[in-house]
Amino acid sequence: MDTNLKNLLALYDDTAPLEEAHTIPAPWYLDSGVEQLERQHVFGGNWQVIGRIDQVANPGDFFTAELAGEPILAVRGADGQLRAFYNVCRHHAAAVATVPCGHAQSFRCPYHGWNYGLDGTLKGMPEFAGVCNFDRAANGLMPLAIDTWENFVFVHLASNPSPLRDFLSDFVARVSPLGLDKLQFHSRREYTLNCNWKVYVDNYLDGGYHVPHLHKGLNSVLDYSHYTIENGERFCLQSSPMVASEEDAQVSATRKGDRARYFWLYPNFMINIYQGVMDTNLVLPLGTDKCRVLFDFFFEDLSPEQEEHNTASVATSDKVQDEDVAICESVQKGLASRAYGAGRLSVRREAGEHLFHRLLAYDLKSGLASGQKELVSLAMR
Ligand code: FES
Ligand SMILES: [Fe+2]
Repeated sequence: MDTNLKNLLALYDDTAPLEEAHTIPAPWYLDSGVEQLERQHVFGGNWQVIGRIDQVANPGDFFTAELAGEPILAVRGADGQLRAFYNVCRHHAAAVATVPCGHAQSFRCPYHGWNYGLDGTLKGMPEFAGVCNFDRAANGLMPLAIDTWENFVFVHLASNPSPLRDFLSDFVARVSPLGLDKLQFHSRREYTLNCNWKVYVDNYLDGGYHVPHLHKGLNSVLDYSHYTIENGERFCLQSSPMVASEEDAQVSATRKGDRARYFWLYPNFMINIYQGVMDTNLVLPLGTDKCRVLFDFFFEDLSPEQEEHNTASVATSDKVQDEDVAICESVQKGLASRAYGAGRLSVRREAGEHLFHRLLAYDLKSGLASGQKELVSLAMR
């Protein structure tokens, strides 16, 4: 076991109650050993959202994604079955699907033309006659576990994961009454931030603590003092009653309803819901000090008459996001400073962050102890 890594993980006491807890220590946001461990045991060890069902509605529809450094392909087969594969050719490892999404009858590898069916089977290999002991049936695309919940497609990199429903647990019952299926996908925006992915998640999970200081426009429609924070097994719901306000015209026109609901699902997925409006955020690490956040916007009404309103709603989110980007990048700099080791948590506001840190610590500590090499062994099967 890596002693240095073990010592780093031991810096965080995941048994401390919120009143006594510290944040995870600064080196966890900076260290490449921690990043590797996260890749294997957080992103590689939990169900992960990779896309939406509406992207693969019909046979032949597919999309590609990257998870924990692994190229992934999700595709709906001619039989209507949704499948996921490693997007890695069995010949010399090139990606067989090379575009973010599309529609296909089969996948022809761009390198030497090997051809795979929608179900992953290897259909043909040009100029391969005379090769001995080659079992075509055993050389299909390598499959991985895939399942869906609401409009979201999840995969799991482990070979025999426990069911998605077990992972989601009490999250399912909390979300299902909200009728997310009434909302339709509108558009996607991507943001690249110069900060560790956990800085972004921490910022999301501070129970509205930063809202009055950083998001004055958004704050004008939230009843900040009645903001609630509820932790589930692997989720946190932050919720706030809404108030009418004329302070910021664009915000009040696009953020309506009785309540704002902000759901986080461990480790990196968020669902934000206002009346008739939803956006999801997927936070993807790109090294220790960079991450990408994918925002998918959904609306109840996608008619042309609503387009101006929907575009304004996306712009409202964009403005809030700009404010968050700047503070997250500032935090990343501070975490690297010799002046900072770890911080304390507000009992009133930061229970969600505390849950995140404890779940993360559990995965990292148990992952290091188990020393599993699942991803390596997969290629040998
Ligand atoms: S790498 Fe795909 S055909 Fe050679
Ligand atoms: Fe924010």
